[in-house]
This record gives sequence, structure tokens and C-alpha cells, in this order.
Amino acid sequence: MNDMHALGTLEDLPLSYREALSAQNLVPLWPSLRSVLPPGKPALRTRPTHWPYSSLRPLLLQAGELTPVEKAERRVLVLANPGHGLEKMQASSSIYLGMQLLLPGEWAPAHRHTPNAVRMIVEGEGAYTTVEGEKCPMSRGDLILTPTGLWHEHGHDGTAPVIWLDVLDLPLVYYTETSYAIEGKEQHVTATERERRYARGGVVPSPVFARDAARRNPMLRYAWSDTHAALLSLAAAEPQIEAVQVAYVNPETGADCQNILGYSALMLRPGETLRLPARSPAMVFHLIEGGAEIVVGETPFALTQADTCCAPGYTPVTLTNRSASTPAFLFIADETPLHKKLGVYETRA
Ligand SMILES: [Fe+2]
Repeated sequence: MNDMHALGTLEDLPLSYREALSAQNLVPLWPSLRSVLPPGKPALRTRPTHWPYSSLRPLLLQAGELTPVEKAERRVLVLANPGHGLEKMQASSSIYLGMQLLLPGEWAPAHRHTPNAVRMIVEGEGAYTTVEGEKCPMSRGDLILTPTGLWHEHGHDGTAPVIWLDVLDLPLVYYTETSYAIEGKEQHVTATERERRYARGGVVPSPVFARDAARRNPMLRYAWSDTHAALLSLAAAEPQIEAVQVAYVNPETGADCQNILGYSALMLRPGETLRLPARSPAMVFHLIEGGAEIVVGETPFALTQADTCCAPGYTPVTLTNRSASTPAFLFIADETPLHKKLGVYETRA
């Protein structure tokens, strides 16, 4: 017997009965049961979507002319997934993406908020993010964390526009009705760069045998020069490895560097095709260097440098580097930590 047989609809019920239910704030479950618990696979709103940098960049620079930073606070164009509706400003159910522009001399004032944020630097030199008094320089490919509750602001001492990709768990935090921000005063730079305390993998500070493993965010900036070197080293050390991929982690605990979204970097070797199985989390790919073809389910995208695309969960993804000589480097954000914590994580053959 098929246990997914058709159920009664709302229209099957007398209008007077439906009105009596509504008047008591009651809803019959069975007309909606199949849509909230669809057979076998979730109903995915997230659509495979590609945001080419060549299209986005001129519009972002135009925002720099149209809207002074004082009128924007954060001058951002949100990479919105049409499957969720553009007004929802989300790339997937839990991921927000925004491309942010800071012009020379501008300052994006201090605030802190409940959603966790990271930024992947896309273009330009001379800008910095100050997080809890620690000045984090921003260069192409660097990853800078501003975890929940930490003060952060952005300044720019350089001479050309700086652009970065913000990734937040804002849609999830907003959904749970826990999203808010607090504005603050300009920070004084008081702290040294925490990344310098974790200059090499495998060793952590332990003064007089004391570890700092309880520290929530020991590292805030992951320099691309280090991540890039780690990928090249891994590729050379393990030529047969299935994927040349490294995760951004908390160096004290080895856990994901943030609680809700996961971040990693991937090197596609020259000529490589990598097939990722269908997994429950949605993913975002941002091309740091080189070129890559990404097929999300049946949807192909050709990514050039600084392009961004997203893939819904439960969908296989194939990545190909067509270059015979040059590796491609990608930054990946995904919902794996969240799904594992919720117990809904799965991989399908
Ligand atoms: Fe922020």
C-alpha cells in the first residue's frame, strides 16, 4: 500500500468549519502534511545561482557614487537567491552573501550583532577590519572572522576601492528571532594580531604548560598566503588525495571556526574533475584564482576569477578545472556544521 496516497484538501472541508477553526487560531494539518513533509526529499527553494563578478562589480562601484558610506553604514549589494525571493536577501536557507565596497578614506562604523560573519577579501589593498581591538589587514583571499557578539568596523588607508564578500548565518539567526545589532564607538587598536600566535599548524601557545582551549575565537584572520601554501603542500604531499581541500578551524580545538556555517578552501589541480556527492547542506563557491566549471545538478556555470555561485543541498556538484597548467582555488561556505549539530546531515550516493 502506498503510504503517500492523496490526503484531504482544505476545499473538502465546509467553509463554516474552516472559519470556525480560523476563529480559534486552529489549522488542520492534513491538507498541508505533504508540503511540510514531502516524500523522500525536501522541497528546495534554493536555486543554483551564479553571480558573475564582471556584472556585479560595476553596479557596486556605482553604489559608491550613488550612496555615501554614511548613508549606507555597510555599502553592500546582497547576492540574493531568486528561489527564496530577492526581498528575503538570502543565498540559501541559512546563508547570506553580500559584496561590500569600501572606498579610500571611508569608515564603516563599529557594531556588533548576533549573526556570525566572515569576509573573504576579493579586491584591493589597504583596508582593514578591527575586531575587538585587533586590526586585521585585508588582502585578496584573506578570511576574517567576526563571530557573534564581537565588535567590528572597517577602515581603508589605501588608494583604490576595496571589495569583499561577506558571508553570514543571518537568515537562520533571523528565522530564530535572535537577530539584532548594537552600534558602538570607534575602537582603539589594543590587541596584537591573534593569527601571529598561531603561525604554524600543529603547535599552539602553551605558556608554563597552560593551554587556552576554552577561548572561543582564538584566531580571527586566516591569511590567504598561508592557506594557499597549505593547499600546494597538501597537493604535493598526497598526489592521490581525493580532493585538495582544507577547512578553516579553531586552532585550539580543531573544530569548525564558526558554529553554524563551515568554511574551507579547495584547490582544483590542472585538468581535475571533482565530483561532490549530494549532501544535505547548501554550498557557496567563490573563485579566488583561476577558472572553474561547476555543474550544480543539471545547471552548468563557468566561473572566472571572483565569481560566486551557490548550490542547494541534496544536489550533486561537479567541479572541473579545464586548464592543463594552472590550478584553480575556491573558497567554500556551507551549512555542514549546522546540519551536523541538528542531526539532519546526510550524504546520498
Ligand atoms: Fe557587521
